Amino acid sequence: MTARVAILISGGGSNMEALVAAMVGEFPARPVLVLSNRPDAGGLAKAEAAGVPTAVVDHKPFKGDRAAFEVELNRRLEAARPDVICQAGFMRILTPVYVDRWAGQVLNIHPSLLPKYPGLNTHQRALDAGDRQHGCSVHEVTADLDAGPILGQAALDVVPGEDAPALARRVLALEHRLYPAVLRRFVEGDRTRIDL
Ligand code: GRF
Repeated sequence: MTARVAILISGGGSNMEALVAAMVGEFPARPVLVLSNRPDAGGLAKAEAAGVPTAVVDHKPFKGDRAAFEVELNRRLEAARPDVICQAGFMRILTPVYVDRWAGQVLNIHPSLLPKYPGLNTHQRALDAGDRQHGCSVHEVTADLDAGPILGQAALDVVPGEDAPALARRVLALEHRLYPAVLRRFVEGDRTRIDL
């Protein structure tokens, strides 16, 4: 069975690009939708160039009514009939309206070695803490922010003196390797953790 994968983005979508590029040939999944909460997300043009259907559910008209935004988000997702939803640079805090509707089907990539540094500014926090190792994690999405079961991690050695943008660039390259590897196992029903 070829799994149907929807990808949620908010910006450039480099992780979305890596996932779409991986879903070819004998890979047991195909992208069926790239959806952004921001109409100006650079990733939308990249998805269209790759021939993947796109959609926008702009969160601004909902003016902080998270539940109403997620009712519309769910409606657009249901139309695509996804088996798996990959959040990839999707910068929204989510409520049970979405999380409960898709429970067990949603993955997210986070730029830290969870449980370290949930939330934002992870690279600067790792540098400020003097961490020798840093990296990224793919986890299942649950009600608690960045706290679902970890399905994979990729780690690197922090270069002494490097700044947050340089570290972020190196972690992003790891993300692009980790996310497709975890997605493949996930769609095959294998929850064994991957460590790169
Ligand atoms: C990346 O740092 C990723 O870890 C986080 O959002 C950032 C942008 O990702 N989830 P992308 O280039 O939009 O995939």
